[in-house]
Amino acid sequence: MDDLFVNVGKAIAAFEATIVSRSSAFDRFAEGLRDDNPSQMAALSTSAQRGLKLFLGKAKCVLCHSGPNFSDGEFHNIYVSRAGEDDYGRWDGVAQVRASSFNFESRHNDARPEQAFPWVRYVTRIPESKYQFKTPTLRDVAQRRSFMHNGRFSTLDEVIDFYDEIDEAKEFQDHEETTLVPIGLSHQEREDLIAFLHSLTDEEAQSELPDL
Ligand code: HEC
Repeated sequence: MDDLFVNVGKAIAAFEATIVSRSSAFDRFAEGLRDDNPSQMAALSTSAQRGLKLFLGKAKCVLCHSGPNFSDGEFHNIYVSRAGEDDYGRWDGVAQVRASSFNFESRHNDARPEQAFPWVRYVTRIPESKYQFKTPTLRDVAQRRSFMHNGRFSTLDEVIDFYDEIDEAKEFQDHEETTLVPIGLSHQEREDLIAFLHSLTDEEAQSELPDL
């Protein structure tokens, strides 16, 4: 039974690996910048270009949403959880992954020997891991119907409001994530940041998810 389960999981993972998002307006802008080609750089609207500057500068989004996938692959507590929510994110996940018969050290792992570093042994539950969630990619983010692990927000406007006024979100947790401070965005800056997030949508994507 275990083998069947693992093979289905690996088949799904292999399918997911074929879904690649790389033809967004932002990608064309980045290529234009690399090749010193201004007409290609124009693929990114001036508003989205200002949004990109904010993303890298004043709004500091790049501290966590970095690299080609706009994720540092790390876990952070950004105060999305509210009082009474019992999903502790990484805190629970660490215990589950260590106990799981499908984890990295199990016989189902088919990584090559040189890749088989026993990461799972070094993952420990520290107090800071409570309410931490993994930084999601921002590619195709404008196509999602809800945002954050608990679907707390249904528009990008709400997400930006949340980051803009982050102090109010901190009220019920003791842990301080010092990188997150209120940004103080003007109306125009808000629009620009949202225009930038829209520019990360792959315009040539072939596969559409079925509407369930
Ligand atoms: C301290 C790290 C950090 C910083 C700085 C940060 N983010 Fe995030 N971001 C995260 C994490 C972690 C999540 C997932 C939280 C969750 O699911 O509860 C997230 C989620 C999001 C989401 C929702 C994505 C989805 O699929 O649900 C958006 C949109 C987003 N961030 C945009 C931004 C923008 C714009 C900025 C800058 C204003 C920013 N982030 C700054 C760590 C960060």
